[in-house]
Amino acid sequence: MAFNVLIVDDEIEMCLSLSELLTSHGYRARHTTLPGEVPGLLTEDPPDLIIVDVKMPVMDGVALLKEVKERSRSIPVIMISGFASAENVVRAMKYGAMNFYEKPLRIPELLNEVEQLARTNGVRRRVEPPLPPSFRVWSVNPRMREIFRTIDKVGPTDASVVITGESGTGKELVADALHTLSHRSAKPFVKINCAAIPETLLESELFGHEEGAFTGAHKMHRGKFELADGGSLFLDEIGDLSLDTQAKLLRVLQERELTRVGGSRAVKADVRIIAATNKNIAQMIAAGTFREDLYYRMSVISIALPPLRERREDLGLLAGYFLLQFNEQYSKQIQGLSPEVRQVLLAHNWPGNVRELKNCIERAVIFCETAELTVDDLPRQYIDYAVSEQATLANAYESVSRQMILDALEKSDGVKHKAAEILRIHRKTLYNKMKKLGLEP
Ligand SMILES: Nc1ncnc2c1ncn2[C@@H]1O[C@H](COP(=O)(O)OP(=O)(O)OP(=O)(O)O)[C@@H](O)[C@H]1O
Ligand SMILES: [Mg+2]
Repeated sequence: MAFNVLIVDDEIEMCLSLSELLTSHGYRARHTTLPGEVPGLLTEDPPDLIIVDVKMPVMDGVALLKEVKERSRSIPVIMISGFASAENVVRAMKYGAMNFYEKPLRIPELLNEVEQLARTNGVRRRVEPPLPPSFRVWSVNPRMREIFRTIDKVGPTDASVVITGESGTGKELVADALHTLSHRSAKPFVKINCAAIPETLLESELFGHEEGAFTGAHKMHRGKFELADGGSLFLDEIGDLSLDTQAKLLRVLQERELTRVGGSRAVKADVRIIAATNKNIAQMIAAGTFREDLYYRMSVISIALPPLRERREDLGLLAGYFLLQFNEQYSKQIQGLSPEVRQVLLAHNWPGNVRELKNCIERAVIFCETAELTVDDLPRQYIDYAVSEQATLANAYESVSRQMILDALEKSDGVKHKAAEILRIHRKTLYNKMKKLGLEP
């Protein structure tokens, strides 16, 4: 059956032209301008690839990406955007986007990527081989080595641990290692992402509810605390808890028992807490948005993971490790990284940390058809980062100009002579600049 691509973009022209392009290359393509339709389409006729626009009025493309990945982790998603801000690229990477294309799209590159994906389709669906936790955390950095020693010591105890670090630094990996090392490892390790659940549902998710506690509560429901009884509970993104929920959580941690929403009976829960956040909790405490007493109760031990850019000595090791992993997953036999690739990796700042590196290597492995990974296998944005200082300045200039023009166009509702007035340049100059930046005038 033909490789099945779903295109989601609020602009019907984009949907139609991409559909036509893909169909003319022998793929099956469907499209929708309504992100809300995507979950239905996923079950009805599961696509092999989804192409998602970032900026859509009803639902932001990254939110859609997140939802797609929650339903089906293995479907590759390519993001397309009029302006790829660093923040959006990082968010998209975080939720597992395969690549990020700026509009106007570089069609040959996109087609090449679709072709590679179609070729590896099926192979890709094999699951990642599970490894014991101590083998899954890799580092040669002294600070990380110290953290491994802490994990070894603290893991087997019941002490609660707060893990901090930027997105993608390995917080969840550390949490897994702590639970696996504990005497609770045969009991459940329950995870809850506090940022992903709407405030109104969070309390019942954590503590459960009794039948009839609120409209729609038809049955008694056990919360994560009860489900984790005897085991560990991973509270992810605690920096996103409201003060109200923080107060309730503190009470449960102090009393070691809870009351389900709408109930009056106290229920015992023997749970070890492992929490994580990428926010600066000290700042939040100072600002009064995080309770100090709750923080101290949870952070008997705290582990702060350094960002990847502060442990560049890990780049080679981690890249090599991911290369092995993806060689296996995609049945490839790539021997190593070319010296240029190493340079590019070292020059990059890794705002998405280890996750970003992992995604970057995965994509490169899929693309690579030679004995070693070369810069041609890397996504374009990495190569742009690695060019000479002069060229970097030129890039920065281009991206600032592009942003200023887009802002002016937005302010002037797309009326170009007004945009030119805002920018205080001649209309013709604006046209020329837009052409040069690939923003079709
Ligand atoms: N030291 C490491 N060795 C091997 N793999 C790692 C390492 N650190 C992180 N990873 C991998 O990188 C990815 C991101 O790690 P993880 O999910 O633990 O990050 P996180 O800090 O929880 O991120 P977020 O704040 O975005 O939730 C995972 O696939 C993980 O397996
Ligand atoms: Mg995490």
